[in-house]
Amino acid sequence: MNGTFKLLLASVALCAAVSPGGLWAESGGVAPGVVDAYVKGTWKTPAEGWQARIDQDETQRICSLSRNQPSKADFAAILAREKASVVMPADGNVLGKWEDGEKVAQIGTGGQFSDSATGPRGGNCYACHQMARRELSYGTLGPSLEDYGKIRKFAAAEATATYTKIYNAQSILPCSNMPRFGHNKFLSEQQIKDVTAYLFDPASPVNK
Ligand code: HEC
Repeated sequence: MNGTFKLLLASVALCAAVSPGGLWAESGGVAPGVVDAYVKGTWKTPAEGWQARIDQDETQRICSLSRNQPSKADFAAILAREKASVVMPADGNVLGKWEDGEKVAQIGTGGQFSDSATGPRGGNCYACHQMARRELSYGTLGPSLEDYGKIRKFAAAEATATYTKIYNAQSILPCSNMPRFGHNKFLSEQQIKDVTAYLFDPASPVNK
């Protein structure tokens, strides 16, 4: 889970605290700027390189303000901006090693203060998705990805679209709850290739 996502959760929790179930407009007179300053104040000494993760970008700002319900115009603007920011692999190959991708899917460390800066970093995909049938524990915030490649006939175009989705979920669905792993430089190009292979390799347990 990345910093932006945690910040979003923190903001949502805080907003709920000042105004149970309310929207910004009903927040009992607490201006978004006040809430923003409070949240920022709780991060007095961010670790090196963390400042950019604490500052919301324009896309996340609109998603927070609209409670993930952007206007039609904002939806189109986010889609265009996020699509334009996607960086595809230079060698044109979106598939890595599924065995390494499985680790990316399972590991949830790397995004917290207490985590080692050099330690393993993962996408924590299982926190939100069912993937391989043999994995017993998974979250359900995202759809099941069981048989993901098989259902898509292992088509190359589908694999490319999936790499894009994992690189930047919002380039396909603005204000998605899925972290923007490549966009936020949380996962490396190789890790995204590996986890795409985990979904698309016929030998991967996802497709067994
Ligand atoms: C915090 C929860 C969360 C995490 C972590 C997460 N996802 Fe998602 N994901 C979602 C949600 C919610 C959706 C559905 C909305 C959307 O399409 O953006 C989704 C959609 C997807 C889709 C598109 C599914 C479809 O049928 O169109 C793929 C592929 C995917 N996720 C892969 C991954 C991979 C791989 C990882 C780990 C690197 C991951 N997700 C981590 C929440 C998450």
